[in-house]
Amino acid sequence: MAKDKVDIFDTTLRDGEQVPGCKLNTEQKVVIAQQLDLLGVDIIEAGFPVSSPGDFSSVSEVAKVVKNATVCGLTRAVKKDIEVAAEALRYAKKPRVHTGIGTSDSHINYKFKSSREKVIERAVEAVKYAKSFVEDIEFYAEDAGRTDNEFLARVCEEVIKAGATVLNIPDTTGYCLPEEYGAKINYLRSNVKGIEKVTLSCHCHNDLGLATANSIAGVLNGARQIECTINGIGERAGNTSLEEVVMILKQHPYLNLDTNINTQRLNDMSKLVSESMGMLVQPNKAIVGSNAFAHSSGIHQDGVIKNRSTYEIIDPKDVGVIESSIVLTARSGRAALAYRAKKVGYELTKLQLDVVYETFLNFADKKKEIQDGDIHAIIEASKITTSIYA
Ligand code: KIV
Ligand code: ZN
Repeated sequence: MAKDKVDIFDTTLRDGEQVPGCKLNTEQKVVIAQQLDLLGVDIIEAGFPVSSPGDFSSVSEVAKVVKNATVCGLTRAVKKDIEVAAEALRYAKKPRVHTGIGTSDSHINYKFKSSREKVIERAVEAVKYAKSFVEDIEFYAEDAGRTDNEFLARVCEEVIKAGATVLNIPDTTGYCLPEEYGAKINYLRSNVKGIEKVTLSCHCHNDLGLATANSIAGVLNGARQIECTINGIGERAGNTSLEEVVMILKQHPYLNLDTNINTQRLNDMSKLVSESMGMLVQPNKAIVGSNAFAHSSGIHQDGVIKNRSTYEIIDPKDVGVIESSIVLTARSGRAALAYRAKKVGYELTKLQLDVVYETFLNFADKKKEIQDGDIHAIIEASKITTSIYA
């Protein structure tokens, strides 16, 4: 059965770059955009053009160099924003304007001090105005996660009539549970006239650590676009992590959902974003963290050395990592020591390994991690005959 395609909308350069201290200059944004294009993302949200002259020129330069992906610029439901975004996207092969407005009662009452009816009016006006510049218009209903479903359905229906091509249903505050977010997407699919004409998009924040789970719940309920960032960076606790959703769909083929991502580029992409922004990736980060394919307990190491699949569900090569690592610590067993010793040139017999292992434990209790250089010292200190040297 042919797989259904899920579009990957990367917002590293917009939502990701909103992180304090992660500001990128135009040259850096262009380099990242080119790599995102090679990675195979479908849409690159390059920035918020009206926000500053620098962001305008970044979006404009990205629009000029991107070869395959749609290039998108964010706006509020404000005419000036839309005009500036359309101008910044002038040279894009495939331009998209991403406009929208808050739809939750919290946003309507406190942010806009307005009414539901007026918000619908502004939404429709913004989409129609954007449509006078470009064909591809994505509408976001900000704080859709906390928006009453009936009202959200009305907003969606009106903006579809006004010409929206993609409907973004953001869980802006990262509040929803996966069941709730999935049900919201399902509700819209069943209750919005014309919904079959548009793509539904998930844009989930990670305030409760549920951004990835919510995005997956969204696509399981019919959304066909996921908005995400490299390394999961973004406002507050971040956005859905691109590498996580892509690998979830790849590792669960029975879901029949696929993306266009060349996953072997993920590790390098993660490093490029981390280094350009000066934002470290936590070692235990799924897929791209430095420990994602590192094994340190004796039981796990023994399993992985016998067969990788015992403790790994992803082949590291599939995400651009050369090989799994067997880390030597005081929790490691003989199998790991023999494996690492062999890698640096020592083929140990069982009896020799017993002797060397005792010395190793003394070293490992003093040092957090045993490196290749330490292995030579451990073998020397074990006073076993040099005939063991391979
Ligand atoms: O989180 C959010 O709601 C957003 C919108 C501007 C799309 O980033
Ligand atoms: Zn966001």
